[in-house]
Amino acid sequence: MPKLLTWREDWSLNIETLDRDHRALIDQLGDICLRFCPEASSGRAGNANALIEALYGLGESMREHFQREEDFMRAFDYAGIGEHQCDHALLMAEFTTLLREWRAEGLHVFDEASQGLVRDWLLAHILGADRTFVDAYFRLCGREISADRGRAMNLYQSSYRFTLAK
Ligand SMILES: [Fe+2]
Repeated sequence: MPKLLTWREDWSLNIETLDRDHRALIDQLGDICLRFCPEASSGRAGNANALIEALYGLGESMREHFQREEDFMRAFDYAGIGEHQCDHALLMAEFTTLLREWRAEGLHVFDEASQGLVRDWLLAHILGADRTFVDAYFRLCGREISADRGRAMNLYQSSYRFTLAK
């Protein structure tokens, strides 16, 4: 049986809008693991590039998530946004390099080793830099968040939820 990758509640940042994105990214990767694991791939014919294309789709979802996350940070003037943007750019560059190598090798089965690389890449983001950012966010909220800025954040979160729900 393939090893399932599923969301764990202790990965939550307790910011609903971002957790929803992270959960969707984990689900997307879990789905790719199921579709392209060795057990599912034996004897399968079809598009030889299907795995790379699915992983490319995951990279695009990650890029869109980074964009939303940076918008979220700008909404409350997060001082560490520059550093966080550098982390995002580095992660995307790593993933692009990895996919380029795998495409050249003709990777079409998502074995345990390659699954592990992508899982670690995704979790490095969710459990790494985002934690630092969340600490700053809650310190700001816990202190005095000005009425105007609080309203702006609420509005931002509502419109974000609306975008996601469409
Ligand atoms: Fe994130």
